[in-house]
Parts: sequence; structure tokens; C-alpha cells
Amino acid sequence: MKIGIANDHSAVAMKNEVKEYLESLGYEVVNFGTDTDDSVDYPVYGEKVAEAVANGEVDRGVAICGTGVGIGLACNKVKGIRACTCSEPYSAEYSRRHNNANVVTFGARVIGPETAKQIVKVFMETPFEGGRHERRVNQLIEIENKYFK
Ligand code: RB5
Repeated sequence: MKIGIANDHSAVAMKNEVKEYLESLGYEVVNFGTDTDDSVDYPVYGEKVAEAVANGEVDRGVAICGTGVGIGLACNKVKGIRACTCSEPYSAEYSRRHNNANVVTFGARVIGPETAKQIVKVFMETPFEGGRHERRVNQLIEIENKYFK
């Protein structure tokens, strides 16, 4: 599985740690984030990783800013993206099982690197359950098709 990772200036160290961890698990990781502490705008980097997921360049995305919220909002503006902000592994697991999320986001100012590693591991390993959840995800897609031109 190929993973895209993106971040703003608040999450350079967290991005590097998570990227190395995912690589140690055998994933190929493509960096779409900034690599310096110079202040940048999170929407730019959210769009980059979300676009890569939407067009199939990578299979899933990880997006990190201070809270995980802003970059997650940016990701969710790209058609086809279901980005979920998760501060613990349970939500990350169920964002896959029930919501078929394709991007996980979190905050470098909210959680520590060990929790982040648990989150990305479970997010990459957990399959979508389908069944009744497929109907609900399809309803999300219908809303998206109605409002995204
Ligand atoms: C940057 O200071 C901060 O606003 C950003 O990383 C993020 O938390 C926005 O949602």
C-alpha cells in the first residue's frame, strides 16, 4: 500500500516520525508536506495529499497540522475524500470499518508520537466492513455529488 503524508509547519517532526514508522511497517510513503518550520498555510498541503488520494497516486493519506482540524477540512474539500480527524486509535479503526475513510488527520499539538503511530497503524490495517455501512457511505457520496460541481 502506498501512503501520502502531508503537514504544515506545526508538524514537521511528527510527520518525519510517523513517516519513518510507516516505512518500518513496510509501506511506501510519499511526502506532500512542508519540511521546515517556516509558517505555511495548511490548506495547501491538505489539498496536495487529498488530490493524490483522489486521483489514485496513493492509496490512503495522513494529514497533520496543529490540531488536525484545518488540514482535515482542506482534505474534505476534494471530491472523493473522506478525511477523519482522530485523536485515538478507536476512532481511527471505526473510521475505516464504518466510514471507509481514506485520509486520517490528527494534531501534532494535540497528541504525542506514540498515539499517532497507533492511529496510523490501525488506520492502514483495518478494512471497510461494507454491508449497511456501504449504504451510508453511498449516502455521503450522494450528498457530495449534489453539492460538489
Ligand atoms: C497553525 O498555527 C495552525 O493553525 C494549524 O496548524 C492548524 O492547527 C489549523 O487547523
